[in-house]
Parts: sequence; structure tokens; C-alpha cells
Amino acid sequence: MAKVVIFSGAGISAESGLSTFRDADGLWEKYRIEEICTAGCLNWNRENTLTFYDARREQLDSVMPNAAHYAIAKLQEKYSKDIAIITQNVDDLFERAGCKDILHLHGFLPRLRCEECGATHLIGYTKQERELSCQNCGGSFRPDIVFFGEAAPMYEHLYDAMQDCEFLAIIGSSGNVVAMDHFARHVKISILNNLEKSDAINERVYTKVLYKKATEAIDEIVVDVERFLKT
Ligand code: APR
Repeated sequence: MAKVVIFSGAGISAESGLSTFRDADGLWEKYRIEEICTAGCLNWNRENTLTFYDARREQLDSVMPNAAHYAIAKLQEKYSKDIAIITQNVDDLFERAGCKDILHLHGFLPRLRCEECGATHLIGYTKQERELSCQNCGGSFRPDIVFFGEAAPMYEHLYDAMQDCEFLAIIGSSGNVVAMDHFARHVKISILNNLEKSDAINERVYTKVLYKKATEAIDEIVVDVERFLKT
């Protein structure tokens, strides 16, 4: 497993034009989580839920990775076996920046999942055709996104990925869903990069705290990672 883990949240994609969730103008200010991102909402609020993810998928087509995504791709290319990229984000900006093997903990917006057999189907940035059915079992599709209250099967891979981690960089996550402070206490070096303090994060457990935009912090993070890997 990699010695360096770069863990990100919505904040790393903010400068690409994608809303975060809990910032002032975040998605959860505009939409009710229980209506479009909570277990069961596809049963009682299906059309509104599918429409919400259709709109986010179409928006993805109009944005680009930012300097932080590209810098991480360059770092991974240079030190491939030593860098793991884990994200809570469901966008494909890391992929489009050239990153490989990204662990998406909460799903992936360009992909649908069969509600019966779990088979997945990539639709890119298009709307989900409501009558599209699974070729494997004939079941219906849903966004391949983890809703609140649903299982998040990728979390077991998070613990595996953190096994050998000695350097942890948290970029753009409020810590409200995945609490990384626990991991930060057990690594040699930990960097927290957000825009501002978060009530869900104990900044004192981090070696370095950078309250600035990811595109402004990323060069310093890269320097620290390279210095660490060269020791
Ligand atoms: N650069 C760096 N950090 C930023 C930037 C930026 N340009 N803009 C915002 N941030 C930071 C904010 O300071 C905040 O700490 O990004 C964080 C965004 O927090 P959230 O909106 O809570 O997003 P996130 O932590 O990814 O949410 C986790 O919650 O709703 C669920 O499944 C969803 O994956 C998501 C999870």
C-alpha cells in the first residue's frame, strides 16, 4: 500500500466550478438531503432524484480539472507506487487530469448501477434514460452514488489503503462524513487544506494546516510530499 495518501472532498473541485455541500452556497443549502440523497428517496421521490443527478452529470460536462487535480496527477505519475488518491467526490476531474486508480468512496456520477444485480453502466454526462434496463438481469438503473443511510462498500478499501500511510494530505473536506482525524494521529506527517476551520475537524492533530484555496496550497503540499519521499 502507498506511503502517501491524498484524501479529498468537494473543496478540491470547488475551483473547477462544482458546488461543495456545506459551504455558504453549497448543494445542501439548495436541496434537501432527505429528498434526493437519502436511502429510500428513489422509492418515494424517484423522478426528482434522477433529475437532480442528471443535472449534476450534465454540469460535469461543462467544467474542467483545476491546478490541484493536475498537480496530483503529475505527482502520481512521478511516484506512482507511493501515492494513493482517495476521494469522497463523485466527479471525474481526477480521471480527466490523468490520475489513475482513484478510490471513489461515495460512488461515481458518470456511472449507473442496477438496483437488482449491481451491474454498472457508464453514461458519461448524459441524462439517465428512464426506460433503460440492465442487460444483465433486466433490472432498473439508479445513479451509482452512495446516499445517506446506504452501505458504502468502498470504505473497507479506505482502511486497506491507509495501512501503510505515513504521509496524509486532506484537501477540501469538512470531515462531516469521513472523519480522517483518527488517521492523522497515526501518520508521520499530515496536512489539512481547507478554506476555513471545520467543527468536525480537530486541526491540532495535523502537522500542517493550510487555510487557503487548494490551487494555492497544492504547490506547498507537493513540495512536502517530494521532500518526504526523498528521505
Ligand atoms: N480549496 C480548498 N478547500 C475548499 C475550497 C477550495 N477552493 N472550497 C471549499 N473548501 C473546503 C471547505 O472549507 C470545506 O471544509 O472544502 C470543504 C467542503 O466541505 P463539504 O461541503 O462538507 O464537502 P465534503 O467534506 O466533501 O462532504 C463529504 O458529504 O454530502 C456528503 O457525500 C457527500 O462526499 C460528500 C460528503
